[in-house]
This record gives sequence, C-alpha cells and structure tokens, in this order.
Amino acid sequence: MLVPDDGDGPFPFPPDFLWGVATADHQIEHAQDDDWSAFEQRVSEQRVSGTTERVSGTAPPVSGTIRGIGDVPAEWIAKKTDHDRLFADDFAEAAALGVRLYRFSISWARLFPRADMLEPDPAGVAFYDRLFDALVANGLTPFVTLFHFALPRWLAEPDASGRRGVERPDAPLAFERFAAAVAERYGDRVAHWCTINEPMVYAYAGYMEGIFPPHERRPTPAAIVPVLRGLLAMHARAYQALHGVRHFTSGTSGVRHCHVGIAQHVRRFLPWRNSALDRITAALIDAQFVRFFLDAIRDGEARLPPFGPTLRVEGLRGTQDYVGVNYYGRFYVETTWRRPGKFTLHTFDPSEAADERSDLGWTADEEGLRLTLARFHRDYALPLHILECGIADDAPNDVRRQRFLVRHAQATWRAIHHDAVPVKSFCYWSLLDNFEWAEGFDPRFGLLAVDYGGEFARRRRPSAEVYRDIASANAVSAGLWRRYRR
Ligand code: FCB
Repeated sequence: MLVPDDGDGPFPFPPDFLWGVATADHQIEHAQDDDWSAFEQRVSEQRVSGTTERVSGTAPPVSGTIRGIGDVPAEWIAKKTDHDRLFADDFAEAAALGVRLYRFSISWARLFPRADMLEPDPAGVAFYDRLFDALVANGLTPFVTLFHFALPRWLAEPDASGRRGVERPDAPLAFERFAAAVAERYGDRVAHWCTINEPMVYAYAGYMEGIFPPHERRPTPAAIVPVLRGLLAMHARAYQALHGVRHFTSGTSGVRHCHVGIAQHVRRFLPWRNSALDRITAALIDAQFVRFFLDAIRDGEARLPPFGPTLRVEGLRGTQDYVGVNYYGRFYVETTWRRPGKFTLHTFDPSEAADERSDLGWTADEEGLRLTLARFHRDYALPLHILECGIADDAPNDVRRQRFLVRHAQATWRAIHHDAVPVKSFCYWSLLDNFEWAEGFDPRFGLLAVDYGGEFARRRRPSAEVYRDIASANAVSAGLWRRYRR
C-alpha cells in the first residue's frame, strides 16, 4: 500500500491518546510461590549459568536454564528490582515522564498462594491496596494483566490425573475466582483488563522450545492443542467474571464499563531468502503464532493451521473488547527442502548492516508495527492498545532506544492518520530494567536503569527524556523527527 509522504511533522496524537509504560509482576516484584521462582531456585542452586556468549542472534537460551543465573546474587533473584520497596518512587518517576497509563500485572500466586483458598490472601491484598493508592496519587491509570507467565506453584503441579498447569481441568475455575477477586477489590479503579499476556509465547516457550516452565518439548504444534484449549477456556471465564462483577458505590448504577482483552505477541515474519518454502513457512508461522488465538476469540472456535483439529470453547466467542499488541520487530524464517516442516528463526540478517538491532539481536521494524495495527483493525474491527513495544539497549547514551521510540511513535501516528486505525494507547516496555525470563538479568529494556548491585537504585536513561517529550506534548515534534527519522 502506498503511504503518503508525512512531511516533517509535528505528528500530533488524538487528545484522548494515552502514553504508558508496561511491567509484569514476576519481572520486578519480590519472588512469590510460583513456578518461575521454583525454577530460578533450582537452577541457581545448581549454579547453571547457561552460555553468556551470544554467537549470533539465532542462538536461543539453553533449555531449562536462565542465562547467567549462576553468577547472580541470591538477593537479585529474590527481589528482582525491589519494586516492593520502591514502587511509589517508580510511579512518581513515570508520572514525571508525562506517562498517564501504567500496564502491570497482579501476581496470582501472591493473592492465591494455596490451592484451597476461596478468598485472596490478606497480605497480598494489603500490598496491592498500597500499590493502587500510589498509582492514584501519581495520576496513573491502571491497565491490569492477570496472568503474565508465572503460575501459582500449586497449580503448576500435577493433579490426581497427572495434568498440570493450564491443562488441569480446574485451571479455568481457579482463574475465574482470581479474576473475580481482583475485580471485586479493584474494579472501581480499573477500566482496562488483559486476561492473559502472550498466550502463544507461553505455549511455545513452555511446551515446544522448553525454555519456560514446565520445560516440555512436544514434537508438533498439534501436541500443544490441550494447552491452547486451557488458555482459551481460562480467558473466556475471566472475561465473563470481569464483566460480571458489579460495583454498587454511591451514586452509580452499579454497572461497570470495562474493556477486556489479551496481549498478543506479534513479530513480522519475513522469508530469510526469497524462496517459496521460506515464504510459505513464514506465512504458516504467522497464522499459528499471530492469528490463531485472536481468531479463536473472535469466532469462538479455530483450527490450528495447517491441519490441526478445530478447537471449540464454550463462552469464548466475542470475548474481547479491544486487541492488545505486544510488538518487538522482525524475525526471518529459514527453511531447507532437506528438512521439510523444520525451520530456523533468525533475529537479524547479517547482510543488512544498516538494520537497527537490540542487545538481544532483535531487528527493529517500525513499518511492521504500522502494518500490524492496520491488519488487526481490518480483521477484528476493535480499538487497539499497544501494550508492549521496546528495545534492549544498555549503551550509556542509549541512542538506539531514542530512535526506536521516535520511529515507533511516528509509525503509530501513521496507522491512526493514514489507515484510520483506532489506536488508543502506546506502552513502552519497560519502565525499568527487569528480569528477562530465560535471558536473565542482562537485557536492559528500561527507560530507568536499575543498579542491581547498588541497592537497586534507579537512574533515568537519556531515552527517558525523549519519551517525556513525546508523552508530555502528545506528539512527535518536528525536532525529534528531524533528528531520528531514517
Ligand atoms: C514480552 C514479554 C515481556 C518481556 C518482553 C521483552 O514477550 O511479555 O514480559 O519479557 O517480551
């Protein structure tokens, strides 16, 4: 599609557009009794470091390890960023950057640390009460995620039938109970909910690649269908619960208007070399990884491409009020006729020296963000929220992050203005450096740097000032665009 020349800016956003930052409980808060904490404990006791050298952007973390964990003090693993102590300062800093939206997750294990609990744990509730008060005090609008990769340990363990985690038949009911408890307590302050963060990443990383708990390596996408069924059922139950809770506060009708959806991880999958097999495989991966879950929610049923069984889940159809996008750029898909059905994912193309790569080797691609927004608008006809978009850049002047912010903000503007996409918000991932799952503590995504060895002190990176300029003007200025455009 031809895009009109944008000129030199400025690029103003709609008045109700929200600039935000995103985090997730397990990556910044103190450890809870969840499957990730149990895994970290296990690998750090064995002092398994994984490989700290990254030979190319294609090397995935070793199965069942966390990069560099053997070299990390126990305090980091227990406290992550010590957000439990510092959250009020973190929120004040976000507000000072002109941010108005704060996407975060509530730890399921902190509220329901035991299987037999019908009511949430009082200590967990007290923690989130204080946290919500601090959000309000700093004028931040909460966008709440309920499941961001970490499961309570009791649920991650096998039940009597040997099924565990999201495949357990009691998982949807347990998740519904958790969602209802959170909505009862905080629903008067939350208009936006994300039930599940990146269900497809969760399923692939945990059940095929084996790099997230429960570290399984099932042979084919069809073998993870029960996992997808569990996740879809959990989502459907939580959607109904969140919409069902009524708040009879003084002067209101008791009907709470809330918007519920998921966060879908999106990459632009491009063929590695322009072969037919690379192209077909890239399209297939896109259909499985990017489209499947959203299509299933829209239609109430879906077939995992190319030949998977049709999955039908009761109460699922139409259970999203917006489409949530987590976007990190481009991947390349390489295949060979010698190994049909297999592929290699490359995070960058070494022959494209001009491409912007993060410290993880991920290639930035702001045009892919615009295309994603336009396509999701076409396919789902719902408002869109960019719930994560960010780059790992630990350079002292973090100029790649500055460019990334300006270019992705401008690409969002183009989606709104040229493609008429109703994008409502943009959340940068992340407010602060944090624990990056199987990649450990090395990748630095934060607008705020965390000094782990120095009592977790925060320091603003230069890019934070760029984000402040964008968020406080609600526009990409002509000056920023001149400086950072391609
Ligand atoms: C996303 C995750 C988020 C963070 C970023 C870098 O896939 O949702 O927790 O790890 O990647």
